[in-house]
Amino acid sequence: MKILLLGHKGMLGSDLFSRLSGDHEVVGMDKEEIDIVSADACRNAIDETKPAIVINAAAYTNVDGCEIAQEECFAVNAEAVKNIAEACRSKKIRIIHFSTDYVFDGTANEPYKEDDQCNPINVYGESKLAGERHLQSLSDNYLLIRTSWLYGVKGKNFVQAILEKAKAKQFINDTMAKAKAVADNPSTLSVVDDQVGSPTYTKDLAAAVALLIEKNIQGIFHVTNRGTCSWYQFAVKILKESGFDDITVEPIKSSQLQRPARRPAYSVLSMQRFIQITGKTMQPWQLALQDYLENSKLHN
Ligand SMILES: NC(=O)c1ccc[n+]([C@@H]2O[C@H](COP(=O)([O-])OP(=O)(O)OC[C@H]3O[C@@H](n4cnc5c(N)ncnc54)[C@H](OP(=O)(O)O)[C@@H]3O)[C@@H](O)[C@H]2O)c1
Repeated sequence: MKILLLGHKGMLGSDLFSRLSGDHEVVGMDKEEIDIVSADACRNAIDETKPAIVINAAAYTNVDGCEIAQEECFAVNAEAVKNIAEACRSKKIRIIHFSTDYVFDGTANEPYKEDDQCNPINVYGESKLAGERHLQSLSDNYLLIRTSWLYGVKGKNFVQAILEKAKAKQFINDTMAKAKAVADNPSTLSVVDDQVGSPTYTKDLAAAVALLIEKNIQGIFHVTNRGTCSWYQFAVKILKESGFDDITVEPIKSSQLQRPARRPAYSVLSMQRFIQITGKTMQPWQLALQDYLENSKLHN
């Protein structure tokens, strides 16, 4: 099949490009080739490429940045989805789009199902939900995949940030990691322990997308690696797997970080529908992390 992959240089996009190129003819476009905020650019790209599927992995993903750059955030995460859906509509082109656990408010105490009430608590979540709504109202042939806590070899992510901090033994307040400076204890990282979710390796997500394409499945799906943890527990595991025995991790509250965007306290996504439809499950996040650490060693 011919696939137009938007955002193919991003963290998820680059793994999608590698995974899908084996079985499909994939045309990748990123910011250098297209601005998806432009309706004309989307129409032209789709007219010229004539794909059977458009995959949109492009997004404005800086969660704290969205609180400040609200207009740009909505343009990329919502308006651009409308552009893509409108350009595909009359041609009956299938759309695969990604959304986030941050469309939920985090007050649940069991994994969120696809049809549960959305109620975002930050601008990024609001913009992604607006994108979902555009897709659902304009396309009758879409696959909307909500995922969470992504990390991959081709992007800035939490795992990399924790490892960099551990390596440098520096404790700067970093917007990518959930870590904060502890000037008087140079071998301690402080990481939030009151946000729980499912870390997800983009390579595993790309394989799940390939499976959903193969099965020609439509609708909303939650796809994450299996199991849950807090960012603190995730950081402890990252350091343990990487041999940083001399670094300790201190659990802290989100309120101690004072970041611009609020985060849901609990944003675990139920995988029931994916398992039921595909007959497959995703590997546990601990094993996915080991794969990532191996692959990023090779990559670097
Ligand atoms: N990262 C996460 O933890 C996470 C969690 C849940 C869901 N998601 C969703 O998963 C998807 C993939 O996320 P990701 O983390 O892989 O994203 P990413 O690494 O930030 O990649 C997004 C790509 O889109 C490009 N882009 C941004 N604005 C564009 C525009 N106007 N026109 C064309 N391209 C544009 C970016 O280019 P530049 O880098 O040059 O700006 C980048 O290459 C997104 O829909 C995201 O909302 C992500």
